[in-house]
Amino acid sequence: MQLPAARHVVFFTGAGISVESGIPTYRGAGGVWSQYRYEDYACQEAFERDPEKVWDFHDRRREMIAACAPNDGHRIIAAAAGHYPRVTVITQNIDGLHQRAGSAGVIELHGSIWRIRDDTTGDIREDFSVPLARRQCGAGCWWRPDIVWFGDPLREDDIDRAVAALEDCDLFIAIGTSGAVYPAARLPLIAVERNIRAIEINPEPTPLSDTYPEVRRQPAAVALKELFPGLPPAVFTPAAAGR
Ligand code: APR
Repeated sequence: MQLPAARHVVFFTGAGISVESGIPTYRGAGGVWSQYRYEDYACQEAFERDPEKVWDFHDRRREMIAACAPNDGHRIIAAAAGHYPRVTVITQNIDGLHQRAGSAGVIELHGSIWRIRDDTTGDIREDFSVPLARRQCGAGCWWRPDIVWFGDPLREDDIDRAVAALEDCDLFIAIGTSGAVYPAARLPLIAVERNIRAIEINPEPTPLSDTYPEVRRQPAAVALKELFPGLPPAVFTPAAAGR
């Protein structure tokens, strides 16, 4: 099994890695934002204006995502952890599929659709009910999806962990991201500018494509199977996924 040589691999993923699981991207043909205005569904102002409408949107996404399973792309990344001294997964995705495939310590730059939080108490909890069992907590306030919406700052701790990994890795692979949303889109440059092996996997070109020394214009799972030949995708068992 001839795997790429590395001490620390960083996988940086976007919505494209979940396409082969049946989850639409945000941009491009059929993208979520071609059907919904994020100003009405995915920002704090929209939530304060009409929390029911925002929860209806997020419940529809929870329901759709819950019916999807990790694909070989997620599972190869999960399996890589058993073959390298260190693997870090940094994702912009909120679907939790990396974790369901078996990846641990995933840095979820944009939060998770499976976490909710009470901004009056700071209470944050995982909740996999579909639809969400209770949209309001005891005191009548609204649970908020623990997602980094447009206009929200990223969590300092997530940024610190991601930057530390990008500054230490010796193999960087960006998968399925359009590089359209900052500050997340700037993070790959930390690795790319260190002259390490850096690969972009995306069927389409992106604004950052020219900065990568290596580009694979392929779907995520196809490219990962070629990059990690013979690496058996981590076994996905729904029971192990905890839901
Ligand atoms: N394999 C790999 N990449 C793919 C595939 C596939 N099978 N299919 C599509 N792609 C690529 C598209 O070419 C596109 O470049 O995935 C990318 C998806 O881009 P976006 O929809 O913009 O998703 P992403 O980059 O993750 O968006 C970043 O924007 O809306 C916010 O918070 C949201 O995290 C999201 C952020």
